[in-house]
Amino acid sequence: MGLVTAIIPAAGSGSRIGSSSYKQFMELGGKPVIIHTLEKFQQSSEIDEMVVVFPPDKVREFSGRIAAYGFHKPIRFVAGGERRQDSVHQAFLSVNGRQTELVVIHDAVRPLVEADLIQRVVERARLTGAAIAAIQAVDTIKEVSSKDVVVATLNRSTLRQVQTPQAFAYPILRKALQRAYADGYYGTDDSSLVERIGIQVAVVPGSPLNIKITTPADVRFAELILRARG
Ligand code: CTP
Ligand code: MG
Repeated sequence: MGLVTAIIPAAGSGSRIGSSSYKQFMELGGKPVIIHTLEKFQQSSEIDEMVVVFPPDKVREFSGRIAAYGFHKPIRFVAGGERRQDSVHQAFLSVNGRQTELVVIHDAVRPLVEADLIQRVVERARLTGAAIAAIQAVDTIKEVSSKDVVVATLNRSTLRQVQTPQAFAYPILRKALQRAYADGYYGTDDSSLVERIGIQVAVVPGSPLNIKITTPADVRFAELILRARG
């Protein structure tokens, strides 16, 4: 059985949170957001190595901050790109395809992920080649026009809100990335690249607590959850 490599994209600037500091390093319960995330991957027995992607001009500084926490799994730092997909691509190019069986991708800014969810996504991808975490849509979701007028009401029972982790067999993700760049395609998640090359992607129940820290309200919510978990 080959290695399982985790790619942790952390090369964004956090524009929607409206803070001068990078949101992946905002303090949550006394620790930077990304440290909470890496601790979960450190804990997971499924994960053999981690690749963390930082803004190109921050790799030195940010990797120094991570090193201070003394993670004992192999961890390397890569310079990211303009969009999230470019950052994942850069990390993927550093992965050894002869040794790696599966690649699992998880946003640095989803620090409430639990090791159990990582395990379930990886296990499913090992069986099927591609698996993602997602939750049932709880709100009714409507399509609207550019003028904010309702165009259609979608059938909620078939809708899912997609999260990370997302895990793929190495050769599947390689082909998906190659094809996306050949076609000039950019997706809002990694699965969409895999879907468009005709691969079936299995959906694993995620967690409503596995939020992506995007706005200041998310930081407050995450603080409360961490406190409740103790
Ligand atoms: N990300 C990345 N490279 C980019 C853009 C985003 O690695 N060029 C990472 C972010 O650091 C984050 C994850 O992808 O861990 C999810 O992205 P998002 O929540 O959109 O974060 P940001 O792009 O930083 O925030 P915003 O969109 O508000 O600017
Ligand atoms: Mg973004």
